[in-house]
Amino acid sequence: MLEIKYDEKQQLFMLSNGSISYILGIEKNRYLRHAYFGKYIKSYNGSNAPLFYDRGFCSNPVESDRTFSLDTLLAEYPDFNQGDFRNPAYIIQTKDGKRVSRFYYSGFSIIDGKEKLAGLPSVYAENTDEAKTLRIVLKDTIVQASIYLYYTILAKYDVVCRHAEIVNQGEADIYIDRLMSFSLDFAGCDYDVMTLSGAHLNEKNINRRALCSDSIVMESIRGTSSPQATPFVALMEKDANEDRGNVWAANFIYSGDFQASVQVGQYKTTRMQIGMNSTTFGWHLSSGEKFVSPESVLVYSDKGLNGMSQIFHGLYRHQLCRGKYKEALRPVLLNSWEAYQFDVDEAKCLNLARQAKELGIELFVLDDGWFKNRCTDTQGLGDWLEDREKFPHGLKSLAEKLNNEGIAFGIWFEPEMVSAGSELYRNHPDWIIRSQNYKPILSRYQYVLDLSNPQVCQYVIDRLSDILHSVNVSYVKWDMNRHLTDLGSAYLDDKQQKELSHRYVLGLYYIMETLTQNFPNVLFESCSSGGGRYDAGMLHYMPQTWASDNTDAVCRLKIQYGTSMLFPPITMGSHVSIVPNHQVGRITSLNMRFAVAMAGNLGYELDLNKLDEAEKAEIKRQISWYKNIREITQKGTFYRMESPFERNTVSWCFVSEDETKIVCCYYQILAEPIYTNPVLKLKGLKENALYRLNGQDKIFSGSELMYAGLTVPKIEGDFYSEIYILQRI
Ligand code: GLA
Repeated sequence: MLEIKYDEKQQLFMLSNGSISYILGIEKNRYLRHAYFGKYIKSYNGSNAPLFYDRGFCSNPVESDRTFSLDTLLAEYPDFNQGDFRNPAYIIQTKDGKRVSRFYYSGFSIIDGKEKLAGLPSVYAENTDEAKTLRIVLKDTIVQASIYLYYTILAKYDVVCRHAEIVNQGEADIYIDRLMSFSLDFAGCDYDVMTLSGAHLNEKNINRRALCSDSIVMESIRGTSSPQATPFVALMEKDANEDRGNVWAANFIYSGDFQASVQVGQYKTTRMQIGMNSTTFGWHLSSGEKFVSPESVLVYSDKGLNGMSQIFHGLYRHQLCRGKYKEALRPVLLNSWEAYQFDVDEAKCLNLARQAKELGIELFVLDDGWFKNRCTDTQGLGDWLEDREKFPHGLKSLAEKLNNEGIAFGIWFEPEMVSAGSELYRNHPDWIIRSQNYKPILSRYQYVLDLSNPQVCQYVIDRLSDILHSVNVSYVKWDMNRHLTDLGSAYLDDKQQKELSHRYVLGLYYIMETLTQNFPNVLFESCSSGGGRYDAGMLHYMPQTWASDNTDAVCRLKIQYGTSMLFPPITMGSHVSIVPNHQVGRITSLNMRFAVAMAGNLGYELDLNKLDEAEKAEIKRQISWYKNIREITQKGTFYRMESPFERNTVSWCFVSEDETKIVCCYYQILAEPIYTNPVLKLKGLKENALYRLNGQDKIFSGSELMYAGLTVPKIEGDFYSEIYILQRI
């Protein structure tokens, strides 16, 4: 059912996969008009075609028609300086400093499958029957440049992937001031907008509000997608909720600065865009050169937010993540950070790892502190030499000892950074991002390496490769703990300085591509002080992300719930840590901490020496139980049920790929003074199937569990959790 049709008479392009349709047309032989994006339409005859009127303040780019104005058009890729006064999709500056252009429609082609975006992460299609791509050409014969708009419709997922490319076909340089990956207009503005914003230790909070007559902007100029913002926006019909209603969402497959906006125009049209952030982006395009924008994924769901998330989850698991761990189950790990911070050494690691092995843990991760001069966060980054005082026999021998005892070895790096006291900085003071006119600004006592410089990228690749070649490393935690200031590069020439933020990200992608291809058996987990760069760009290289430095079970309910809007649980690192919790001081039971952490990829991050025998026995039970169900939580379909952003009770469930097993988690944050008989309404079951609850004799039908629900036992005390297992019979 996958097709892209061109209707010559109506001058329309229709993309569909039998479940959704995306329709665009050509207006006045020049302009691209958006016609429709939503549920599948079998045939389209212009029933919702716009009417044009002569309106005040409207410019008329077609002289013979006073009613036609770009300011009222539902546009596909809106221009600048031609009378559409809403947000433009692109701005091009010519050599004379002017920013006037006239890009007109000039042709199309249809490609079977989907092409890769050079140097950038993107959704992929392994076979040509998985995707079809429409490529539209816009041309400006005066500027002598073309813009190519790509639209890929996928067979399996209700998604359209979009990006734009610009080619300079003239002699003179042109300058790209703005280039959105997509722009999407809607008639009307009666929608709610949802965004995911936050902070370090408090990532991905759900914010939903009504759209009014102005703009909502979500952006980052920090050099990363950031913990503060997420390159995502969803437009929802007012009555849409987790399970019902229409949702149109967009996510940017990019890890750097971005701007996402939703703008209501004067005629109550709604414009949604995501692209690189013009505050920190600009690009010189010399004669013959091409610039490729990052890709955006547009999702349409008529099944509310759960429907939207399940599309993102499926797509990202199967057509964005790559490598061995796309399918392989993720190991249970123990991380040294919250146990010892920088104070690690061989004896402590062996002691911790041996105990971990006893409890069933499969991977020991040596976090920060293992390299020379790293006793605090004020120094040590950049040289990546083993600290032989802490590890007298070296990491190779440590890994071997652990491997011999049946536990894998993982290690932490912060490859993009350098400390002022390092050899690297002494030898190459010009390798950091800074302006020569000012003293560079420190953050966590460190500078950011200038990854726009290929020599710097090669240095990073070489240093990490040295360790990964010599030590048997199964896992790498790739951290990034400061944002970019002083945007200046000694490598780039004067006119390229505004390219630095994007070139930084391209350099990072190059490094990660090289290392992940060269070390295909290593599980890479990305981290940026927690979920500070938890984005679809990173997932293309690293199939797992540390969701937050906040390991408090109660805070994590919100962080994980918000993160699940976009990312599948198999991508989410989630650990049980000590109480009182390091970040918020809260005391929760081991049971509650486990019940929250097992909803992502389970790990432990605590000093096992501080636990008593009963606690160790409990952890051992948890891990052995988890190993039996992790296939369901890691690979199953995830349903959100009750939201921590709205209630004191939270619940979600996982339905196994073959739909025969369900793991359902219920959490109550604070005890209630009155017992209200809470009933849990399950999701994702088959109405007519029968399910056995928790291995007991009791059997219920799917319809009973979903519509009548399951009574939760009487709860006394704060921070309660319950996990139900259902087996279809
Ligand atoms: C960041 C990470 C932590 C830990 C420390 C080490 O904050 O998010 O998990 O690795 O760095 O310095």
